[in-house]
Amino acid sequence: MDENDETSRVRLPAALVPLKNLTRGQVSVARVLQAWYIVARSEELADKPLAVMVWDIPLVLFRGASGRPAALLDRCPHRNVPLSEGYLQGSELVCGYHGWRFGAEGGCRFIPSRVSDEAESRARKVPSFPTREQDGFIWVYATPESAPTTEPYRFAMMSAPGYDHVVSMVTAESTLHAATENALDVPHTAFLHKGLFRSDSRGLTITAVVRRGSDRVEAEYLGESRPPGLVARLLSPSGGAVTHFDRFILPSISEVEYRMGEENHLLVATAMTPVSDFETRLWAVVSFRLRVPHALVKRAIKPLAMQIFQQDARMLKAQTALVKRFGGEQFASTEIDVLGRHIWRLLRAAERGETLPADPLEERVELVV
Ligand code: FES
Ligand SMILES: [Fe+2]
Repeated sequence: MDENDETSRVRLPAALVPLKNLTRGQVSVARVLQAWYIVARSEELADKPLAVMVWDIPLVLFRGASGRPAALLDRCPHRNVPLSEGYLQGSELVCGYHGWRFGAEGGCRFIPSRVSDEAESRARKVPSFPTREQDGFIWVYATPESAPTTEPYRFAMMSAPGYDHVVSMVTAESTLHAATENALDVPHTAFLHKGLFRSDSRGLTITAVVRRGSDRVEAEYLGESRPPGLVARLLSPSGGAVTHFDRFILPSISEVEYRMGEENHLLVATAMTPVSDFETRLWAVVSFRLRVPHALVKRAIKPLAMQIFQQDARMLKAQTALVKRFGGEQFASTEIDVLGRHIWRLLRAAERGETLPADPLEERVELVV
């Protein structure tokens, strides 16, 4: 190409030049380790060790004495092979390489071929992580050998009378922050999920009232009428007043809650697990009490939710790829990106082990839907 040809010398601005290495701090990743995350459904944990991952920490799950879930670092202290490749003997986990046996607390109980039977010593202990089993899920606290001061999130409607539930698990190639923002972002629904969830703008101005607590941020949407989309029509055939809340609760919970009329209540509660910085697993529980037959709703919700999620997942994956290519995020936000920055503030504080004070002031944002 001609050296003097101006067009051949057009340079990308520095900010647009893709960088090779993505370093931490250029993306919205806040590793909140003093927190509970779902790692499996109860029924997945039976008579075999199960390999899972939280914040890039490989863990092995198994059921110890009296069936209580145990979570250990998935690394044998002897020669560092994954303990999840081993097997269970009673309530002990046996490494598949030389047969060292470990208890639920990670202590080494037995070493085959060894004359002395004093197996347990500090150097041979596997770090263990606190666990809980509730609402049909296994939760792990992401800090080993610690005494948690909090308990896992409760799926409140799971024990409420008159409610039914649909549980699904999906994985998104995205940061936890991007996944939570996406789950609670209103403006994309009319566009990315056109026709399914919301449809084209009807020019209706609604108000989001944002309230900030010490462990959460919520937006209440005022002035919404029943959207004409397929989901809304299914939920409330006759329309009526709509109450709509979107909530983020530390460390990784999103709640989307709708009430339509007196007797229709829908809560989509999603507990997200950061498998790694750029992979997030979503455990979604849709709880509903509706006037329309529940059997019908149950059958419709899963494929519909999956279709909505596939659209989100495709976009999140593409976003992650581009953020990596350009060496970090360069987001241009407006006030209708209602919750994203509040979620980030909460996550950052939680990563540092700080608790933000609740803010008594509400923030009001108008948006057109
Ligand atoms: S590597 Fe596990 S027992 Fe040897
Ligand atoms: Fe979406």
